[in-house]
Amino acid sequence: MPASSDLRLGRRTMELLEQLARHTDEPGRLTRLYLSLAHRRAAEATCVMIEEAGLAAQIDALGSVAGRWDGRRPDEPGVIIGSHIDTVVDAGRFDGTLGVVLGIVAVEELRREGFDPSCPIEVLAFGDEENARFPTNLSTSHALAGRYDPAWLDGKDSGGITLREALVSFGGDPGGIDALARRPGSVRGYLEVHIEQGPLLEAQDRALGIVTAINGISRARLAVTGEAGHAGTVPMSMRRDALAAAAEMIAVVERIGARHSETVATVGAARVEPGAVNVIPAEVRWTLDARAPDDAVRDEMVKAILEECEAIARRRGVTLAIEPTMDSPATPMDPHLAALLGNACCSIGEEPLHLASGAGHDAVAMAHLCPAAMLFVRCKGGISHNPAESITVEDADAAARALIESVRMIAG
Ligand code: GLV
Ligand code: MN
Ligand code: MN
Repeated sequence: MPASSDLRLGRRTMELLEQLARHTDEPGRLTRLYLSLAHRRAAEATCVMIEEAGLAAQIDALGSVAGRWDGRRPDEPGVIIGSHIDTVVDAGRFDGTLGVVLGIVAVEELRREGFDPSCPIEVLAFGDEENARFPTNLSTSHALAGRYDPAWLDGKDSGGITLREALVSFGGDPGGIDALARRPGSVRGYLEVHIEQGPLLEAQDRALGIVTAINGISRARLAVTGEAGHAGTVPMSMRRDALAAAAEMIAVVERIGARHSETVATVGAARVEPGAVNVIPAEVRWTLDARAPDDAVRDEMVKAILEECEAIARRRGVTLAIEPTMDSPATPMDPHLAALLGNACCSIGEEPLHLASGAGHDAVAMAHLCPAAMLFVRCKGGISHNPAESITVEDADAAARALIESVRMIAG
């Protein structure tokens, strides 16, 4: 099937993305952290969009938006279309939100056509995918899979606010989390559309991709503690400079992360205390994010990084505290559901590329509940986690049509 001549679905997708991009915690750039005011407003706006598409919608106990179309047999296992609406700091408008908006556009179109689903179709907008505020990651999708750890509620953001406090201010309900867990067998499939966030689709001249597996991720918060001192008087040989030690450690992360072609390791944040031009740094708090398609290779990489960092700390007379915050194994996608997504792409004339995902996604958590599959959409220059993120209206249109075909195949 050729691209719809007027790109109606692509334009509708862009329009809804534009509306959601207005909800930000920081004027002038898009930052929408889990349980912030902007997240609340975006969740409310998403609720309205889903209702306008003709579905019942609500914001659940953890702040996820859940829309539901019962279909002919409301008790049958249904299909969930989802992604997330939280963002990183200074984000693009497509990461996560595209998958939610495409779910809305798909149900809007299916209802317009008079489609009568044989089973329920749900559209979900998760809220805690980015790990940008609390130590948690994918907590809102893990809740559906019955894997919410109540200790996560005690995690704090950088301002010392606990997740529990933020959830209550948001209007959520810590007491309602257990009830979010879905019964095993009650969902027949989870579909997530997402921008690729990498350069492969563009390089291969394909609009759409089918994800084979999502790479595993290890994360940690680290703190190097030395001793503050006068930058003019303490001789170089007598210093315990936390930043100089951390700099050596960060170089280790980069070197070991590059040992294999398919591994990556990143220090994405570092805070220096007290942080003044004439004071020897006393403390550096930094983060580690290490990823690989193979769990044994990832474990080996993290072990090697931490061993070398500990050796640097000993040699320099500083202390190193390590707090692991995430250990998410590599997650294969469901081959049958992925094949169905691939067939849907082919049916609209888009031969998809098959590729692994270097980024994490809610599909990792949902794969614990039900078969999960992901459709990737080409993004310009492979750029993501950056306000320059962009996709074309043609590719948005193709993704909408592929998603609609998939839902027809599953719920027809
Ligand atoms: C999510 O965006 C990730 O960091 O993979
Ligand atoms: Mn994302
Ligand atoms: Mn992201």
